Amino acid sequence: MYDIEYLDIPPLTQAGGTVRLPGSKSISNRVLLLAALSHGQTTVHDLLASDDTAVMLTALEQLGCTVVQNGNTAVISGLGGSQLAQQKATLFMGNAGTAMRPLTAALALLGGEFELSGVPRMHERPIGDLVDALRQLGCVIDYLGNEGFPPLRLRPGVLKLDQPIRVRGDVSSQFLTALLMALPLVADQAIRIEVVGELISRPYIEITLNLLKRFGIQVEREGWQRFTIPAGSQYQSPGEIHIEADASSASYFIALGAIAASAEGQNGIKIMGVGANSIQGDIRFIEAARLMGAQIDSAPNSLQISRGAWPLKAIDLDCNHIPDAAMTLAVMALYADGTSVLRNIASWRVKETDRIAAMACELQKLGATVEEGADYLKITPPAQADAWKPAVIHTYDDHRIAMCFSLAAFNPAELPVRILDPKCVAKTFPDYFEALFSVTEAQIDQIPVICVDGPTASGKGTLAALTAHHLGYHYLDSGALYRLTAFAASRAGLSLDDGEAVAQIARDLPVRFKGDRIFLAAKEAEEDVSEAIRTEAAGMAASRVSAHPQVRNALLDLQRSFRQLPGLVADGRDMGTVVFPDAPLKIYLTASALHRAERRYKQLISKGNTTTIAAIQQALEARDQRDMSRKAAPLKPAEDAKLLDNSDLTIEESLDQVIDWWQGTRPF
Ligand code: DC
Repeated sequence: MYDIEYLDIPPLTQAGGTVRLPGSKSISNRVLLLAALSHGQTTVHDLLASDDTAVMLTALEQLGCTVVQNGNTAVISGLGGSQLAQQKATLFMGNAGTAMRPLTAALALLGGEFELSGVPRMHERPIGDLVDALRQLGCVIDYLGNEGFPPLRLRPGVLKLDQPIRVRGDVSSQFLTALLMALPLVADQAIRIEVVGELISRPYIEITLNLLKRFGIQVEREGWQRFTIPAGSQYQSPGEIHIEADASSASYFIALGAIAASAEGQNGIKIMGVGANSIQGDIRFIEAARLMGAQIDSAPNSLQISRGAWPLKAIDLDCNHIPDAAMTLAVMALYADGTSVLRNIASWRVKETDRIAAMACELQKLGATVEEGADYLKITPPAQADAWKPAVIHTYDDHRIAMCFSLAAFNPAELPVRILDPKCVAKTFPDYFEALFSVTEAQIDQIPVICVDGPTASGKGTLAALTAHHLGYHYLDSGALYRLTAFAASRAGLSLDDGEAVAQIARDLPVRFKGDRIFLAAKEAEEDVSEAIRTEAAGMAASRVSAHPQVRNALLDLQRSFRQLPGLVADGRDMGTVVFPDAPLKIYLTASALHRAERRYKQLISKGNTTTIAAIQQALEARDQRDMSRKAAPLKPAEDAKLLDNSDLTIEESLDQVIDWWQGTRPF
C-alpha cells in the first residue's frame, strides 16, 4: 500500500496482463454479518481485506463473535440468532456505510445498549430514514450529535411487528438492506416492508436478497415496493461461501483495457475473480463500457478487455443502476469524442464525499469542461492534447476518486498525475496502485529517477531510501551490487583483480532484494548476506572490483532494470553520470571527511567494533581516492547535479531539500 502524502503517476502508454481483484466489499460485509447472525460455523473464502471489512470484523468480535482468520479466509462462529453474547458495546464504524447501517438495524432489534459512531464524514452521512423505520417498530434510538446522522445510541425497546414497516428507498438502498438483514432475527410472524419513494440502486438489494437466500431466508417480493420476510425465518449458515471479486473495483481495469493500447504480445487486460454473470449490480458497468467502445469478452469467472473504438464514444446514460462504477465512466469521458452525460446519480452526494461536486472539481483541473447538476454530470473532454493540464487530484478520503483518476495518466499530453492521499484506496482495494503498475507501461524516459551520488559514508544510502519511501518510489542501492559481486567472486575463489572473471559473476548475479534485506541465491538455498556485505572490508573489496570497466558494464542492465513504475531513487557513485544520465534530478551528496568519519564511527561502535575516528577517516579518504581516480566512471558530480553538503544538516533537513528540488522539476 502507498502510505504516502501523494503519488505521482507518470504518463502511461500501454496496458496488458492479468489482474486478480480483491473480494467485493458489499458481499464481504453482508456475508460477515449474516454469518455472525446465523446458527453454525461459516468459512468465508476470498474475503476482502480492507478498512471497511476490518471495521465489521472488529465490531462482530466486540459483540462476542469468534473469528479465526487465515489469509483471505475467515471462519466465523455464528451467534445463533437472537442471543447476543454482549449486550453492551461502543462500536466504531469508520466510514463504512455497509457496516453502520445493517449493524444499527440488527442491534436495535436484538436489544441491548450500544453506541455506534464513525469518522467525521460518517457523521455527515444520513441515517434518519433507517432510524425512523426502526422507531416505528418500537426500537429506542437517540441521536448523539445531529438529528438524522450518526453517532447513535441504541437502547432496548418493546417491539411491535404487526404493522407493515415503511422505509424510504430514494436516499440510500442500504436502509432497506439493513432492514432486510435484521428483520429475520425477530420474524416469529411474517413481517412486511413497504418502500416509500422510488427505490434507488436496486442491484444492491438484489445482492442482499441473493445472500439472504444463501443463509436460509426466502424473502418474498412484489415489484420493488413490497417485501415480506416469512414467519419462522431463521438464519442458517451455508457452511462455506466464496466472495466474488469486487465488480466496482473491476471497473478501473475494464476502463484501463478500453483506454490503453495493448502492450506488445498481450491481448489487453484479463481480470480474474469476476465474470459477466456476477451477482453484483456494478457488473453492468460492462454494458456502459461497451457503449463507449470497449471490447469485452466474459468467461464464468473472468473478463478480457481490449481497446475497441478510439477515441471512446461519448455517452448519455442513466447511471442509477451502477452508482459506484459510474464514477469510472466520468474519467473515461475524458477520452471520448464529444460530451458525455451521466444522469440520475443524486446518491453520489451522500457517499464517502459529495461525489458529484468532487468529480466536477477534479475533472476540471485536468482541463475538461464540466457542468454539475443536482443529479447529473456533463463532461466535455479537453479540446486537444495541449488543453490537458497537469493536475493535483484531491481524493477527499474517497477510495473511488483516487482509483478512477489514476486513469487520467493516459492523457495524450503525456503529463503525470498527482494523486493526494493515495492510501485512501485501502477502503476497498489496499493494493490498487500496485495492481495498476503491474499491468501498465510508460516510456522508459518518463519513469522518473532521482540519483543520489557521493563519497562513502556521506549518508546517501539513508537519504536515498528515505526519499524513495517519501515518494513511494523503488530504491536501488547500487553499492550493494558491487559489494555482492566482490562477495560472490571471493566465494568462488576468484582474484578480485581478474576483471573478466569477476564480470562474469556480475553478469549473472543471483540477487534478490526483499525490504531492506539482500539475498544471494546459492545452488539450492538463498542466503541473507545483508550483514556480510556491509563490513568495511567488503566495501574496500567492492571498491576494487568496481574499478574494472567490464564489471561496471556487466552491472549496467541490472541497475537500469530497477527503473520501474512509479519511479526510482538510486544511490551510488555514477548514477547521475553513467547509469541514468537522463535523470530529472541528480544530487551529489557530501560531508566533510571528519563528519563522515564520525558518523561511521558511531555506527561501528554501536556494532561493538573498536576503532578510532582517525583510523576511519584515513580509510574513508583512501577509498574516496580510489573511487575518484579510477578510469572507469570515476566518482564525480554530474555536470547538472545539485550539490548538497550535509555536514551540518539533520537527515530531515536533507530530505526536505531533496523534495524541494524534486518539486521544482514537477509540472504541478
Ligand atoms: O556505496 P557503497 O559504499 O556501498 O559502495 C561500495 C563500493 O562500490 C564503492 O567504494 C565504489 C563502488 N561503487 C561504484 O563504483 N559505483 C556505484 N554506483 C556504487 C558503488
